[in-house]
Amino acid sequence: MNKRKGARQYTPENLKIAVIGVGHVGLPTALCLAELGWEVIGADQDEDKIRQMKAGKSPFYEPGLQTLLTQHLASGRFSVTSDVASAIDAATVLFICVGTPQGENGEADLSQIEVIARLIAQHLNGYKLIVEKSTVPAVTSLWIKRTILRFAMAQRRLEGGGLNQSTAPAEIDELPPAPDFDVASNPEFLQEGKAVDNFFCPDRIVVGVESARGQEILEAIYRPLKRPIVVTGLTTAELIKHAANAFLSMKISYINMVADICEAVGADVNLVASGLGLDPRIGPDFLSAGIGYGGYCFPKDLRAFAYLAEKHGVRGSLLREVERINLERVDRFLDKLYKALWIVQEKTIGVWGLSFKPNTDDIREAPSLRIVEALVKDGARLRLYDPQAMQRMRQVFPEQQGQITYCSSPYQACEGAHAVLLLTEWEEFQSLDLHRVASLMELPILLDGRNALDPEKAVRAGLEYISIGRNNATPIPEVYQAQHSPAVQELGVNAPAWR
Ligand code: UGA
Repeated sequence: MNKRKGARQYTPENLKIAVIGVGHVGLPTALCLAELGWEVIGADQDEDKIRQMKAGKSPFYEPGLQTLLTQHLASGRFSVTSDVASAIDAATVLFICVGTPQGENGEADLSQIEVIARLIAQHLNGYKLIVEKSTVPAVTSLWIKRTILRFAMAQRRLEGGGLNQSTAPAEIDELPPAPDFDVASNPEFLQEGKAVDNFFCPDRIVVGVESARGQEILEAIYRPLKRPIVVTGLTTAELIKHAANAFLSMKISYINMVADICEAVGADVNLVASGLGLDPRIGPDFLSAGIGYGGYCFPKDLRAFAYLAEKHGVRGSLLREVERINLERVDRFLDKLYKALWIVQEKTIGVWGLSFKPNTDDIREAPSLRIVEALVKDGARLRLYDPQAMQRMRQVFPEQQGQITYCSSPYQACEGAHAVLLLTEWEEFQSLDLHRVASLMELPILLDGRNALDPEKAVRAGLEYISIGRNNATPIPEVYQAQHSPAVQELGVNAPAWR
């Protein structure tokens, strides 16, 4: 996009920002923009959430967020409102960060975005840059533009000259002036649990624009970060985001498939991943094998991307397979548990980690949900622990005397347990005293769904340690080595589980 001669300088004095939708994307974005010096209004129709924030409390856990909220409510650079229209009136730049949940057939449900576009159309009281930040399928920004334009023009026709909406354009002598706005796509790459760090140190900032003015404004907003800015058209920017999330999901499913091969042939997936990751063409990240990916982004974005491909006649089978492998992870993990315990009914199972990843209280599409559901159905007694996510989990699986117990520490979760499952690799679990863990358990069986622990340490502590795609080092007592029953081997069961 060619820069305009004598283009205006955009500063916090002449550019107010509104962030519409203050969830896991919107709130970190809004507060980090305030930290950069911009004046930001966070708007959300969820009145409870706004009330909570007005009282100074972050509506969810994200490292660094509470501090920024306290700081910028006090500095006056951040304010919140449930009156979305007033935020639109007050700002020049509108970041749309509302949810794009999964609709039927895996298609993204964009109805919340459409509602906001129509609201913006009614409040174009001067130039506005509308920035789409939610993850959306290709051409959503063009739909936003079209929607705003249509509804704004319809309103202007109504307001000017008493024409009604049914008036055909040909009958209009003079069309009202077109509203002054641009649309941009500025996808976010924030990871939950690291959103604040990711904002201040992004690998890249993608700016999809259709005008020099839109580009200048977004460059001015992000310039203080001094990070590479990739400028593209609207649709290309949208595609970069979807393609990135789908690719990362694919990397995870790939290493999970490799983990299954490792188990079959006796190799170690962690070492395979290290060997792969050192090749700069592959890279070391997102090669951790385990119980699969969850969260609000990868599962739905992958499905929406596959849907988009198929809608346009492009085969989505690669992406569908990525999803299939991911869904199977939980079943394979539960198989390991059933092989270790045979029957889980009336057995006590400790669970470490409920959130879909560490450093968040988010449990949306977390593997823990399916695991807990299956074990409850099979009559196990569960002792659950998570450093942050227990409150949210309680809303899905309330405490039930004798069946579901929420514990106040990882040690309490393994008291009297016949097995403990590690489902989220919180740092806290990596420094536990495993001897103490083993001594608290009825049967010292530990299933590590994230390969987070050192197998040797676990075994030295007396635990039967079962992980993913690694030789599951187990302290086999001599008596079992001597007997080494083929029948037991055929069942695929580790001997100590039969003690
Ligand atoms: C993901 C992307 O990483 C962000 O770039 C993107 O902005 C965000 O989605 C979004 O679209 O909003 P997020 O879902 O917060 O971020 O978390 P990730 O760190 O990507 O983890 C996703 C899932 O993959 C977690 O369940 C995690 O446990 C799992 N994972 C991750 C693995 O199983 N193995 C790995 O090697 C890495």
